[in-house]
Amino acid sequence: MIRYTDSLDSIDAGQLTGGFFVGWPNPPSAETHLRALRGSSHVWLAVDDATHLVVGFVNAISDGVLAAYIPLLEVLPAYQRRGVGAELMRRMLRTLAGIYMVDLLCDAELQPYYERLGMRRATGMLARNYATQSGKVD
Ligand SMILES: CC(C)(COP(=O)(O)OP(=O)(O)OC[C@H]1O[C@@H](n2cnc3c(N)ncnc32)[C@H](O)[C@@H]1OP(=O)(O)O)[C@@H](O)C(=O)NCCC(=O)NCCS
Repeated sequence: MIRYTDSLDSIDAGQLTGGFFVGWPNPPSAETHLRALRGSSHVWLAVDDATHLVVGFVNAISDGVLAAYIPLLEVLPAYQRRGVGAELMRRMLRTLAGIYMVDLLCDAELQPYYERLGMRRATGMLARNYATQSGKVD
């Protein structure tokens, strides 16, 4: 069974080894992934009760007043197309209710997916430093 949680209290890096960041040439390690989740203002995780692995996650970075950004939503390939991504997003949008701006970037092919979750299309800008794709070193 898939369980949803917004707490990282009982989550360790070993539970993040299922194979996230598909297609990233230089992905973050599980330890760095956990660090990024801990640095987020909000997270929702989908955990497989049978394996204790995290099989999906979404995080948000917010000022808690006006704005929130959702940098990452990912579901492990073996768990996709079962509604896990939509459930994570619904929970995150509910968590962020009351915040004026809730933004994310996505490929055009995914815009209908986010529209079904109540979001609107927009244009945006981005910068990427591929040298630090695996995470900033302190
Ligand atoms: C996008 C993603 C999170 C969806 O998670 P999921 O649990 O499979 O999603 P759901 O089961 O809630 O919904 C499935 C629907 O998502 C849509 N969808 C998923 N991936 C899609 C893609 N690459 N292009 C277009 N639509 C897509 C489809 O409408 C699909 O419905 P279908 O199965 O009837 O075709 C997942 O595919 C994923 O992790 N992809 C890789 C990372 C990524 O692209 N994240 C989004 C960053 S903006």
